[in-house]
Amino acid sequence: MKLLPLLLACSLLFPAATPTRKITNICSSQINDFQHLNSTGLHQTLHHPQSPCSPAPLSSDLPFSAFITHDAARIAGLASRLATKDKDWVAASSVPLASGASVGVGNYITRLGLGTPTTTYVMVVDSGSSLTWLQCAPCAVSCHPQAGPLYDPRASSTYAAVPCSAPQCAELQAATLNPSSCSGSGVCQYQASYGDGSFSFGYLSKDTVSLSSSGSFPGFYYGCGQDNVGLFGRAAGLIGLARNKLSLLSQLAPSVGNSFAYCLPTSAAASAGYLSFGSNSDNKNPGKYSYTSMVSSSLDASLYFVSLAGMSVAGSPLAVPSSEYGSLPTIIDSGTVITRLPTPVYTALSKAVGAALAAPSAPAYSILQTCFKGQVAKLPVPAVNMAFAGGATLRLTPGNVLVDVNETTTCLAFAPTDSTAIIGNTQQQTFSVVYDVKGSRIGFAAGGCS
Ligand SMILES: *[C@@H]1O[C@H](CO)[C@@H](O)[C@H](O)[C@H]1NC(C)=O
Ligand SMILES: *[C@@H]1O[C@H](CO)[C@@H](O)[C@H](O)[C@H]1NC(C)=O
Repeated sequence: MKLLPLLLACSLLFPAATPTRKITNICSSQINDFQHLNSTGLHQTLHHPQSPCSPAPLSSDLPFSAFITHDAARIAGLASRLATKDKDWVAASSVPLASGASVGVGNYITRLGLGTPTTTYVMVVDSGSSLTWLQCAPCAVSCHPQAGPLYDPRASSTYAAVPCSAPQCAELQAATLNPSSCSGSGVCQYQASYGDGSFSFGYLSKDTVSLSSSGSFPGFYYGCGQDNVGLFGRAAGLIGLARNKLSLLSQLAPSVGNSFAYCLPTSAAASAGYLSFGSNSDNKNPGKYSYTSMVSSSLDASLYFVSLAGMSVAGSPLAVPSSEYGSLPTIIDSGTVITRLPTPVYTALSKAVGAALAAPSAPAYSILQTCFKGQVAKLPVPAVNMAFAGGATLRLTPGNVLVDVNETTTCLAFAPTDSTAIIGNTQQQTFSVVYDVKGSRIGFAAGGCS
């Protein structure tokens, strides 16, 4: 397979790291990764990308601007995903690769067992794409350094390459937005590419996936990556949780149920979250969830759309017509860091938070336009609620509202948009979020992380 210069040229470049945010780089010994199956589904530990307890942490020196750069690339990727809907794929071989969302920074980390005997791999979790893939020996073109052993198909007795005639090969177009191709020996080849220029090309494959010692599922379709370029920290690959038939969620659904839940932890050392699969994956907080309908959008059937209905600051609704909340399609995404709101809603939120905080303002920080002198822990942050159609509400804690961008400045962790609104991961942190795909609803419950 050939490297595409276009993809290489737009790889994310990090600014030289000036360590300005304090992130502890020592893992608290209380965090032990768990992976287990019980009557309510499969449960496993989820790590913040910068957590010192992550098996493949990003540098704790990474400036917050790196996350914002990542966000811009991810959003460009999501936008192109929404825009490629009407492309004529008959001409696919002559069109440039379509980008999914960016995955390099900002995505959470978990483990996945694959093969027989089972080996465990460190994986990025992405609700914005569908195909699961990992770097694969012999890395015919390229692999980046990864934590732990490289997956070697020859060492797994349950491995099989998938032929071009398999229906799963035809499904790749919808899963990756890129056409599949066929090797000389008739093996199906995939191309997964992301908004930040990261990509993985390789063979569509099948093997036994294990999400716990007692839960293994034979015949799981995933990508065995022979040409892998990008910034995945030191992760081995990516788990796709979007709604395409090839996603891990869809493939596990017949066995455990078509639902998953997570709690995204903060970057603090003692903070861990979880990722659960199964029809009762909301069991962590039974009875505490409030639900909103998944909105189906003709823009993209695999992303998760919701309907934002209103916001309040310190108990008062924002001074904006309620029709503005639903003026743009709204995606809920685990990999976008900063929430994007329709511009009039953002403007009203900025005013209301500024008035309630009464802190001296600070210059804008990149796309974060509403900044204050001080740090979130020391400011009287007002209660901010995000309400969704049907009554589900995120009652944001101070850390979901403001983000410390350096040691002297904190900013409102929202930005305006005129295209697609996105509920990002800073606002979801510490909540349990359940994606009940079967019931076509998304639920929120406070206090989900340990
Ligand atoms: C199943 O495991 C999860 C995660 O450890 C736990 O929170 C839950 O209480 C367990 N449920 C049952 C019924 O054992
Ligand atoms: C922190 O960020 C603010 C906002 O961009 C900037 O004005 C300030 O100079 C920065 N401070 C430090 C110490 O980098």
